[in-house]
Amino acid sequence: MNNISQLISLLGGTGLVAKNLNIKPSTVSNWRKLNKIPKKKIHNILSLCSGLKINTEDFLPSKDLNNENGKILLIICGGIASYKSLEVIRLIKKTNIDLDVVMTKSAQKFITPLLVTSLNEKKCYIDLFSVEDEIKMNHIMLARKPDIILVAPATANIMAKLANGIADDLASTILLASFSQIILAPSMNPVMWNNLATQENYQKLIGRGVEFIEPDVGDMACGENGAGRFPEPKMIFENVISNIIDRKNTANQFKDVSIIITAGPTIENIDPVRFVSNKSSGKQGFAIASEFSRRGAQVTLITGPVNIPVPKCTNIIHVISAQEMFEKTMSQLPADILICSAAVADWKMIPERSSKEKINHENKIKKNNQKLVFKTINNPDILSTIAKSNLRPGIVVGFSAETNDVIRNAKSKLISKEIDLIVANDVSDDKVFGKDFNKVFLLDENNCEEWSKQSKKSIAFNLANKIYKIFTTNNI
Ligand code: CTP
Repeated sequence: MNNISQLISLLGGTGLVAKNLNIKPSTVSNWRKLNKIPKKKIHNILSLCSGLKINTEDFLPSKDLNNENGKILLIICGGIASYKSLEVIRLIKKTNIDLDVVMTKSAQKFITPLLVTSLNEKKCYIDLFSVEDEIKMNHIMLARKPDIILVAPATANIMAKLANGIADDLASTILLASFSQIILAPSMNPVMWNNLATQENYQKLIGRGVEFIEPDVGDMACGENGAGRFPEPKMIFENVISNIIDRKNTANQFKDVSIIITAGPTIENIDPVRFVSNKSSGKQGFAIASEFSRRGAQVTLITGPVNIPVPKCTNIIHVISAQEMFEKTMSQLPADILICSAAVADWKMIPERSSKEKINHENKIKKNNQKLVFKTINNPDILSTIAKSNLRPGIVVGFSAETNDVIRNAKSKLISKEIDLIVANDVSDDKVFGKDFNKVFLLDENNCEEWSKQSKKSIAFNLANKIYKIFTTNNI
C-alpha cells in the first residue's frame, strides 16, 4: 500500500491540503507522520481526490481491510438511492467482514432480495414474522450479532421510527433491540431532510449516540437541489470500516484497569420529605462509564439518584448523600483512575427555628409562624481528598461546572484539588444539565483545549482517548 504522505503530495502538499480543508498544516504533517487520516476527514480527502481524479484505492483504508473481520448488519430502506447500497455490499464483500442484510418493504420496491442475496451470497432478511428465520436467526440475534448496524439509505421514515421507538417491521425492531453502534446514511428530498421534524429526530438520535454519515449537497433525482443526496458508497464504506477499526483498536485499551467514576447529583435531606439537590442528570458520567467498560476497564460507577438507564459496567453503587458518596468512593480505593463527574452537594442543610426551638429531624417539619433558617455544614470534597491522599490513583480527573469565568475557575480547581485533568463546562442558562450535548474545555497543567459542541457520548470517547494517552505515557 502507498502511504498517506504520497497521497498528500499528490494533492499538492501539506500546505495546500491544509488550506483546502481549512485546518492547520501541522495537522496534515501529523497525518503524514502517523500514516493515517482520521475518519472524520476521509470524506473531505475523498472529495479532493475525486476533483483531481486520484485513485484512492491505494491509499485509504479499504486496502487494509481485507484482513478486517468485524460484523456488519446493513439495513436497506426504500428510496431512489436503494440501488447504491449494492455498491456498499460489493465493497464490504471484498473484505473479511461478515455481512448480513435486512431490507424494508419499501426497499424491495426498488431492488429485490434475490439481487441482494446473490451479491452477498447469503440470505437477505425481510420478514419480522418468518417462521423459518425465527428458529435460525431471529430479530434479536440479528440485532445482537453485529459490531455496527449501517442503515443505508436511511429514510426520514426510519429516522422517525428510531427516534420515537417505533418497532413495526424487522428493520425498526432490530434497531430498537440492539446494543451495536448504529450509523445512518440518510438520503431523501432536501425539503424532507430540512423539515423540522426530521431535523429534530436527527438531533435526538445524535444525542443518543447514533452516528450519521451526512447526506451530500447537490442535484437530486427528483429534480430539486440541496442537502439530501446519498453519500458516495465508497465514502460510506470507508467510514464504517474506520469505525470498526477504531472500536477494535480501543476495545482492550483499559483491560483490567480499575476505574472509579462518580456521577449524577447527590441529595441532602432536610427532613423525611424535603431535600436540596441539583440538576445533574448523570448522563455524562454514565456515558464515561459505558465508554471505559467498552474499552475493557473494570469500572465502578458510584451514582447519586438519577432517572436514566444504567450502563453496563463491573459494579454500580447507588448513593443518596454526598457523605455516602464520599464513603463509598473511599471504600473502592485503591484504583488506577478516578473520574469525578458527580455534581456533589457542597453542604448538608441543617434546619433550625429562628426561635431556637428544637426540631425533631425524624419528622416532617411543620409550618408555623416561626421562621426556618438553615445552618450549613461542609460536605467532604471527594475529588480533592482522594487526590491528596496516599491512595491517590495514577490519574485523577475532575469536572468543573461554572456559570462564569469558566476557564479561570476550572484552572484554579485543577491546581487547588491537585488533579491531572479537568473538564470545564458552562452550565448557565440550563444548557447542560439533562441535555445530550455539551461544549467543554479540557485543561491540564499546561494546556487548555476547546472542544467543539458534541454529544456527551462523544465527549466520553474523546476523554477516554486523552486519558489513554496519559496512561500510556506515564506507564501507569
Ligand atoms: N467534587 C467532589 N466533592 C465535592 C464537590 C465537588 O468530588 N464535595 C468534585 C466534582 O465531582 C467535580 C469537581 O469536584 O469533579 C468540581 O466540582 P464543582 O461542583 O464544579 O466545584 P466545587 O469544587 O464544588 O466548587 P464550587 O461549587 O465552589 O464551584
